[in-house]
Amino acid sequence: MGSINYKNYPILLVDDDMSSIAPIRHRLEKVFQVDAATSGKEALEKLKMKNYAVILSDQKMEPMDGIELLSRSSREYPDTVRILITGYPDYAASVDATNKAKIYQYVFKSPNIATDIVYVVFQAVDHYWEREERLRLQKMLMRENRLSAIGRLSHALAHEMNNPLSVISNFTQMLPEKYDNPEYRKGFFEHVPESLKRIQAIVSRMSSLTGEEERIEKNPINLHDLIKEASDLFTKDPEAKKIKILKRCENTNPHIKGNPSQLIQVLLNLFTNSAQAVKEGDKGKVEIMTEKDSIILKDREGKESPYIRLIVKDNGPGMDEKILKNIFDPLVSTHITGSTNRRPGLGLFISQLIIEGHHGYIDLQSKVGEGTTVVIELPIFMESSHL
Ligand SMILES: Nc1ncnc2c1ncn2[C@@H]1O[C@H](COP(=O)(O)OP(=O)(O)OP(=O)(O)O)[C@@H](O)[C@H]1O
Ligand SMILES: [Mg+2]
Repeated sequence: MGSINYKNYPILLVDDDMSSIAPIRHRLEKVFQVDAATSGKEALEKLKMKNYAVILSDQKMEPMDGIELLSRSSREYPDTVRILITGYPDYAASVDATNKAKIYQYVFKSPNIATDIVYVVFQAVDHYWEREERLRLQKMLMRENRLSAIGRLSHALAHEMNNPLSVISNFTQMLPEKYDNPEYRKGFFEHVPESLKRIQAIVSRMSSLTGEEERIEKNPINLHDLIKEASDLFTKDPEAKKIKILKRCENTNPHIKGNPSQLIQVLLNLFTNSAQAVKEGDKGKVEIMTEKDSIILKDREGKESPYIRLIVKDNGPGMDEKILKNIFDPLVSTHITGSTNRRPGLGLFISQLIIEGHHGYIDLQSKVGEGTTVVIELPIFMESSHL
């Protein structure tokens, strides 16, 4: 690949008998930046100090053999591409090693090894470079998505706040002149508080977006405790009596890493939406479920990681395709008639920003007459994760 400067991608060569791999080392050094280690222990120390693109290890070493070293390095330095140099092709052992140590390639000791290995290492560095490049692109895209979401939001908000602001402005300008006019006063008391309420609703929605994702504190949280807290909190909402929340959580203890108040905000948004959708006289039901088994998704860095799925399903009226199409856009709302029940249409937009800020996914499925299901997927927290 023309654009790669191979000297920028360090290689770690590991063998307890350096003299036997001297020709390999010599050939590699012509193209790559090569460091050497004579034991698994020394190799792990070197990996700690420097980012290596590729680690090549001999299989037969004492006391830590090549497979063990590569297994450990795959856990601690998963991005480094692993190559095992082995003297004997043993199919069963190699399957075992591939699973254990996630080996990229085997190189068998042969008279041509010094030539063969250069090509294998070229491929391994290309592989490393492609993955790095993909991550860079993904990060750029995530940033652009966020920026364009914020751009769309500010545009929509400016437009949305303009109406109530002009109402307040017009009435205030006329105040000195028309103070004694009963018609004017009636209009004032009808429209000004309503417009202020509208602005307040938008501003209060906005305050749950606390700015840059990096600045939001995130801690390990038990998801089931969070669900309980959110549903308890929701009982204080005047809308709560319209629905019954049924928790069907697996008997596990899933932890995620996140900001509890933001995630509770997401659940409250969803409960509120379900309650608001319940038709007069109907009995609303919201089921909240978690699923953990074998959900492996790509995190934002392209790595496959375990996720937990949280499902919020209601038996409400559902919604038609027209509203569904842009459901996560700001200011999409069907609650726009009447003066007191106007909603800003920001609940799902903000919920999506929060879930994406937690490296998760949110999706909504709905059909008229068949209820609405929201599926949220969040990375499971592990000691080693670096969210
Ligand atoms: N569970 C649901 N059942 C039926 N319709 C829904 C449901 N959830 C959302 N909707 C529809 O999607 C629209 C957008 O929801 P969203 O939460 O983003 O805004 P909102 O509820 O109108 O206002 P806000 O949440 O800012 O108070 C709602 O107005 C409603 O029409
Ligand atoms: Mg809402």
